[in-house]
Amino acid sequence: MKLMQLFSSSLLLLCCVLFFNSGVSIVNGDLITDTCGKIAAKDPNVELQFCITTLQSDPASHGAKDLQALGESVIKLIKAKATNIYSTIEKLNSSTTDPKVRKALQDCDESYTNALDDIGEAYGSFVKSDYGSANIKLSATLDDASTCQDSFKDVGAKFPLVDETKYYSEIVDIGLAITNMFP
Ligand SMILES: *[C@@H]1O[C@H](CO)[C@@H](O)[C@H](O)[C@H]1NC(C)=O
Repeated sequence: MKLMQLFSSSLLLLCCVLFFNSGVSIVNGDLITDTCGKIAAKDPNVELQFCITTLQSDPASHGAKDLQALGESVIKLIKAKATNIYSTIEKLNSSTTDPKVRKALQDCDESYTNALDDIGEAYGSFVKSDYGSANIKLSATLDDASTCQDSFKDVGAKFPLVDETKYYSEIVDIGLAITNMFP
């Protein structure tokens, strides 16, 4: 009986040691998990699982070997998302005849044109290690996104890009958090 107890407690200890070791190596060894963990711990707008899933499914982010490369790929992802929203705006415009909605979409078209400029500048600053300017430009794209949303409020029309804007803001928040990780 005693021997059995000793055996099972040794086994338990061994399991603990193995589990702990693998846990540590996952955290230290995976740039995305590690970075997303730090971001989600600080920023309540970023969900840990969203961050990990989004970056793991992006080939460039998945292949990034350091934070600089990861930041660059996240800004490219932000650009891709803004481009998507821009083409959605054009599609919505061609399928509506409501002048109010047309007006709002016209404003959104301008907002996302600005956003795409800002993202280009953010990328340029980020690759030059000017993280402060990259942060300012990425923040500006969040203003652009809410300016688009407000233009629907102004004309009293339902905002058709709720999910897209939420997703967009969340990726920009990840990008902002990465620019803040550099000294
Ligand atoms: C929306 O469609 C109208 C009519 O086709 C066009 O004149 C206008 O330039 C379009 N606006 C945008 C933002 O694409």
